[in-house]
Amino acid sequence: MNKPINLAVLGLGTVGTGVLTLIKDNLDELTRRSGRQIKVTHAGTRRQRDDIDSTIQQSADLMAIAESDDVDIVIEVIGGTDVAKEVIMHAIRHKKHIVTANKALLAKHGNEIFALAEEHGVQVRYEASVAGGIPIIKIVREALAANKVDWLAGIINGTGNFIMSEMQLKNRKFDEVLAEAQALGYAEADPTFDVEGIDAAHKLSLLASIAFGLPIQFDKVYCEGITKIHLQDVVYAKELGYTIKHLGFAIRRETGIELRVHPTLIPEETLLANVNGVKNAVMIDAHPLGQSLYYGDGAGAGATASAVMADVMDLVRGMDCNQHGSVPHLAFSPQKLLDTPILTSDEMTSGYYLRLTVKDELGVLADVTRILSDNGINIDAILQHDDHKQTGEVPVIILIQPVIEKQMNNAISKIESLDAVIEPVVRIRLESLN
Ligand code: HSE
Repeated sequence: MNKPINLAVLGLGTVGTGVLTLIKDNLDELTRRSGRQIKVTHAGTRRQRDDIDSTIQQSADLMAIAESDDVDIVIEVIGGTDVAKEVIMHAIRHKKHIVTANKALLAKHGNEIFALAEEHGVQVRYEASVAGGIPIIKIVREALAANKVDWLAGIINGTGNFIMSEMQLKNRKFDEVLAEAQALGYAEADPTFDVEGIDAAHKLSLLASIAFGLPIQFDKVYCEGITKIHLQDVVYAKELGYTIKHLGFAIRRETGIELRVHPTLIPEETLLANVNGVKNAVMIDAHPLGQSLYYGDGAGAGATASAVMADVMDLVRGMDCNQHGSVPHLAFSPQKLLDTPILTSDEMTSGYYLRLTVKDELGVLADVTRILSDNGINIDAILQHDDHKQTGEVPVIILIQPVIEKQMNNAISKIESLDAVIEPVVRIRLESLN
């Protein structure tokens, strides 16, 4: 058998501990599949742990581990963007391959990290950084390598989907479900990353790069979270045959690329609408394959460790045939990445759900529909109930066919200036996923 492969696991939180457990549980399988002994020689941890294999050297000196001669692959599961970046850059300069689950780091500094890795002839693998255990990076970079991707849409934050599903299906309270997601190890250290859509935006920026062959451009992703979704909108959406999901979209348009993350009404019979709990799912529309859907656990120790170790296995297998550099970091040759513009939110196109709160007066709907038609906006459905009559205020729900956002914004500001419109218009984007 070839020489053993030595791993350093930096960070012993939920994911790092999950990796050690996976290696212990599946060591025979890993050895049989890779043809090599796989051994964790070092663990980077601030606090000594007495519950892990005593042959693993534990240390808080991450830089020393990163340059250690008896480490072949550094697994970075510390999280955050400061220390993690420093350690990874140091390890790359010492010719170590990197496996990371750190989407925030790659979203912000991935272009620089990949360039350094290419310079030093090593690989940075990041399967665990997007959609937990679903091998979506491998699918886009390798399995779909012969396709031209037109769009992808994904539920790519397990915590957010867990919260939305528990609230919608079981009527549970937001804070209570978030606390449970934290206890289960799904949530980010800062859970606002999950509920404000930032974690999903990190992941979308990576997916878009490997789908379209672009540098990573996290700062251009339009981002809305789930904190402003009201129960009444969930109920109205359901009545009209839609489910509200928090989705990330990367769409190729003639004028550029749309990158957006936001709550979205989607038809309730679609597969994505029925992805619940911590599950993630990514739907890809590509030529010539057509639509395909990938589904699985999006967060948690086991799912993430599975993705981390799949990357380790790829690197180990590649060492035997000197092929670990054969898949470009961003799926396309670094010299061939495009500078296609990322569209601003004003330039994006989508359908809309609008909820207006209006005075119950003659002609209000006529004024609203005139403003919409003056702005070239086509209505798909209108819903108004007569069970709010006592207050003199009526909620009116309008579904709008796909329109450029700038036109929608113009129309909404005119609608809001009508005397009969009492509150700001609630708007949620709507996609048919066709
Ligand atoms: N906080 C992330 C989520 C973890 O809930 O999806 C997996 O990236």
